[in-house]
Amino acid sequence: MEKDVKILAIESSCDETSAAVVVNGRNVLSNIIYSQIDIHTLYGGVVPEIASRKHIEKITQVIRQALKEAECTLDDIDAVAVTYGPGLVGALLVGVGAAKAIAFAKDIPLVGVHHIEGHIAANYIENKELEPPFMCLVVSGGHTHLVKVVDYGKFEILGITRDDAAGEAFDKVARAIGLGYPGGPKIDRKAKEGNPDAIEFPRAKVAESAYDFSFSGLKSAVLNYINQAHMRDEQINEADVAASFQKAVTEVLTEHAVAAAKEYHMDKIAIAGGVASNSALRASMKAACEKAGLTLYHPSPILCTDNAAMIGAAGYYEYINGTRHGWDLNAIPNLKLGER
Ligand code: KG4
Ligand code: ZN
Repeated sequence: MEKDVKILAIESSCDETSAAVVVNGRNVLSNIIYSQIDIHTLYGGVVPEIASRKHIEKITQVIRQALKEAECTLDDIDAVAVTYGPGLVGALLVGVGAAKAIAFAKDIPLVGVHHIEGHIAANYIENKELEPPFMCLVVSGGHTHLVKVVDYGKFEILGITRDDAAGEAFDKVARAIGLGYPGGPKIDRKAKEGNPDAIEFPRAKVAESAYDFSFSGLKSAVLNYINQAHMRDEQINEADVAASFQKAVTEVLTEHAVAAAKEYHMDKIAIAGGVASNSALRASMKAACEKAGLTLYHPSPILCTDNAAMIGAAGYYEYINGTRHGWDLNAIPNLKLGER
């Protein structure tokens, strides 16, 4: 039997400082997440400089706690995996610096991981039977990607957003309705009291690319709707706006993902990223997949939003495929998926 591979994983690309210990990519021994959301809420969004400073304050504590909860020490760790892009450069640098220091001190391999590859790999943790190939819809605050997962670490990007990411649209619309930050979970909750068919918001199609997305037109339509109501001195029904907006987003995401799975003859679809915990998206994907005879996979909510366990899952497959980074590993804010 092959020896187990125990990876210490670190994630600090945005506003979560996280460390995890993951065995063989699928068995999570610990996943410590320190969220800075409360601090950034004061400003209505993530303030990069504050994020970097908080990561510096918390990173050592989070790593220590991850090791403690996993009941191991650095001597038991086979490799260190770390998110090195995409993300906020100052935030990424904190995790990359910590990972390099540990790998150097313990003389163990350093494996840089793409953040989106991590989100996709979050699906492996609770779905032990899931293996590539499959279609994956990655929907987060910074990204909206429709990806054909050809093999572990091998991707074909079929569609991306031309403007706002899905989560970004949720956050901006929530702010306009007055729900506050972070918008996704708040719209999700508010929409439960509303009628998704109350207002007909546009479903944007990108003419030359069937699988690309565009959410800025939808966001503008919602903002116009709210402004016009204010000009007429009318109250908007917040729950109806939230539910109708949410339906417009999730309908397009679902249609694209299912159409791509059919065209590329995939029988499995996974969803990933913060927006993958949205209840309307899960429901519409579930219904569409059942109708089309596709199996749907998704991580539980805590593994949808940023966390280090997903980096440990992706890092394991990079590690066994031979990916190794040197001491010159740097943060790459606009790292492309599949780049190493
Ligand atoms: O994956 P993530 O933690 O960070 C990025 O890599 O961007 O995603 C955060 C995004 C935020 O925009 C947040 O509003 C959104 O995911 N989000 C949701 C829900 N939970 C988080 N959007 C819609 N419904 C939710 N339940
Ligand atoms: Zn993320």
